[in-house]
Amino acid sequence: MNAEPGTRVQRAEKQSIEAAAVALRQGGLVAFPTETVYGLGADAGNGEAIARLYAAKGRPAFNPLIAHVSDVVAARRIAIFDHDAERLAAAFWPGPLTLVLPKRPDCGVADLALAGLDTVAVRVPDHPVALTLLKAFGGPVVAPSANRSGHVSPTSAAHVLADLRGLIDLVIDGGLCEVGVESTIVSCLGEPTLLRPGGLAREAIERVLGHPLAAVVAAEETPLAPGMLASHYAPKAQLRLDADAPRDGEALLAFGPAPEFAGTTFNLSPRGDLIEAAANLFSHLRALDTSGAKTIAVMSVPHEGLGEAINDRLARAAAPRQR
Ligand code: TXA
Ligand code: MG
Repeated sequence: MNAEPGTRVQRAEKQSIEAAAVALRQGGLVAFPTETVYGLGADAGNGEAIARLYAAKGRPAFNPLIAHVSDVVAARRIAIFDHDAERLAAAFWPGPLTLVLPKRPDCGVADLALAGLDTVAVRVPDHPVALTLLKAFGGPVVAPSANRSGHVSPTSAAHVLADLRGLIDLVIDGGLCEVGVESTIVSCLGEPTLLRPGGLAREAIERVLGHPLAAVVAAEETPLAPGMLASHYAPKAQLRLDADAPRDGEALLAFGPAPEFAGTTFNLSPRGDLIEAAANLFSHLRALDTSGAKTIAVMSVPHEGLGEAINDRLARAAAPRQR
């Protein structure tokens, strides 16, 4: 059954789930049920697919995404688990708990999905369709809730279509989501801290830990509210935005046709494509930063489509900060 050209809807069964795994491998966007809410999945290693995912959601900024995996063994390949994280995973996975952990350098999750952070959010969903899809795909799948930015999270395939019809490739219809609210997010970067209340009660988590979860202090380095991450990728170099031409000693982050320049240059998208530029943003910034340049000249990026989120992230990366 076709909802409309562009977005296929299929009942969850072995064949359609395998087709969904193939679509993910090809860079497609696939909405699928989890026990909490429907997720909009993309191959975690495919920066361009992830850029299209942000575009489909209409996210004004690149919020980091949750990497979904089929079991704790796969999660350990992405993130570094301390003792508390191991205990929480053993107690609650699969289930509506997301852990924010230090990422492994070789984690295979695109920088764009992590918004350039050194941490990664991981979870093992407790839903047969999600788990079958993750196993068939064979790697991490990043998935925000499958709604347009600013709308409520979807708990049925119909909700997903209402928001994303025509913007994504496939919806796997697995009926209603049981939990209906998003996963609880706990960071284990030191004291376990509750970042977002959700489908798993705080009390259950605290019973396993044997002590209360730390509260989020509204500081620079912590998320202020669900979906609002105050911390962001901060390069060591200064950024000089809207630069027409790079100066001596600078490195250059170009967009579109770049001026001739002898210094280190990375181009977000020589052909001026905003989706390609988004996919390259954080990895190019990192590469320029490691080049040792004190200042990175950044050519201007049009403020339309994903350009809005790119400019948001560039402005944050350029903001003065304490060291
Ligand atoms: O139940 C859920 O968690 C659903 C299903 C699809 O799994 N997913 C979901 O994703 O709610 P999303 O993108 O709508 O919300 C993820 C939240 C965002 O608020 C994001 O800022 C936060 O997780 N997050 C992701 N990575 C983070 C990180 N490294 N540090 C802090 N917060 C992070
Ligand atoms: Mg959401």
